[in-house]
Amino acid sequence: MVGLIVARSKNNVIGKNGMIPWRIKGEQKQFKQLTTGNAVIMGRKSYEEIGRPLPNRLNIIVSGTKKFEGENLLTTASVQEAIKLAGDKTVYIAGGYGLYKEAIPYVDKMYITEVDTVVEDGDVFFPEFDESEFEKSTGASGGDEISFTRTTYTRKIQQHEIKGKTITFRKLGEADLDTFINMRIGQLTEEYEAEGKNPPEGVDLETALKAYYHTHMADNTFVSWLALDGDKIIGTSGMSFVVKPPYFTCPTGRLGLLSSMFTDPGYRRMGIAKELLERVTEEARDYGCGAVWITASNMGVKLYTAYGFEHNGNFMQYKLV
Ligand SMILES: NC(=O)c1ccc[n+]([C@@H]2O[C@H](COP(=O)([O-])OP(=O)(O)OC[C@H]3O[C@@H](n4cnc5c(N)ncnc54)[C@H](OP(=O)(O)O)[C@@H]3O)[C@@H](O)[C@H]2O)c1
Repeated sequence: MVGLIVARSKNNVIGKNGMIPWRIKGEQKQFKQLTTGNAVIMGRKSYEEIGRPLPNRLNIIVSGTKKFEGENLLTTASVQEAIKLAGDKTVYIAGGYGLYKEAIPYVDKMYITEVDTVVEDGDVFFPEFDESEFEKSTGASGGDEISFTRTTYTRKIQQHEIKGKTITFRKLGEADLDTFINMRIGQLTEEYEAEGKNPPEGVDLETALKAYYHTHMADNTFVSWLALDGDKIIGTSGMSFVVKPPYFTCPTGRLGLLSSMFTDPGYRRMGIAKELLERVTEEARDYGCGAVWITASNMGVKLYTAYGFEHNGNFMQYKLV
């Protein structure tokens, strides 16, 4: 996934005199959370402003005049090149103007922090973009003397070249439901068969799933991202949102439950499951969830561990059926 992170003022300013024109407690926290363990791509001037590579992530600097090299530090001449250099890592474009301008046409998701201030005499601005290509979500607010609000803009139709194929990523819609349900039932049936069992008889799962998806897609408590090769769905994912009593690290009490992770056998080992996992996990972040839970299959454990999921020490389950 190609992400973009920016904070802009009410009059679209992102820089003034070579600096970010505000200091707001907690404003940079999201940047650290998103980019740690991934790759961050920034222009030469933004990098020189920071003056050192950011720790625990790959720093790729775009410059036609200088070379910065070291541990977790690379330089290249264009944003496209930088994305290639990042390999499997999720990349975040971190500015300034030229990088944003080059990346916006193909960026999958923009994390735009709207800073509640007007900056006079700003000299670097965030480029204009076509909002109709994106789905906007408004998140938490924070700040001190100056407040800010998190927003995300997710591209509705995302396309990536993966191992020579053009794969489209988009959200599940009502028109996909019959295929999605068939795939889901097929997947659940396979899980029984893998254990040498048959699924319980007399359960009308199709009707039950249809009712579930209708209700929970309508109130946004279920979201799914699909991967398609042409018109064919070749990968699925799902995230349900539940609420428990709020706790310190998550005052909304919201929790994401991951399900329906499936890749067509002909498209495995291409990184498609990770791409889908990332998109639904980011949906959970947008929804204000404090964590994402999954009951992983043996095959899934490797994927989730590589992504950063951890075993939750005392997590236990009491089966009622
Ligand atoms: N508010 C925010 O979220 C945010 C984020 C980032 C930066 N900023 C602010 O923005 C300002 C810096 O931004 P800026 O736009 O002036 O500079 P910048 O993008 O950080 O750096 C510009 C340099 O990067 C290289 N470059 C940029 N775009 C390129 C492209 N498409 N292809 C090849 N090389 C490219 C060139 O380096 P060479 O000259 O070496 O060829 C160019 O001179 C600062 O004030 C900074 O604080 C704000």
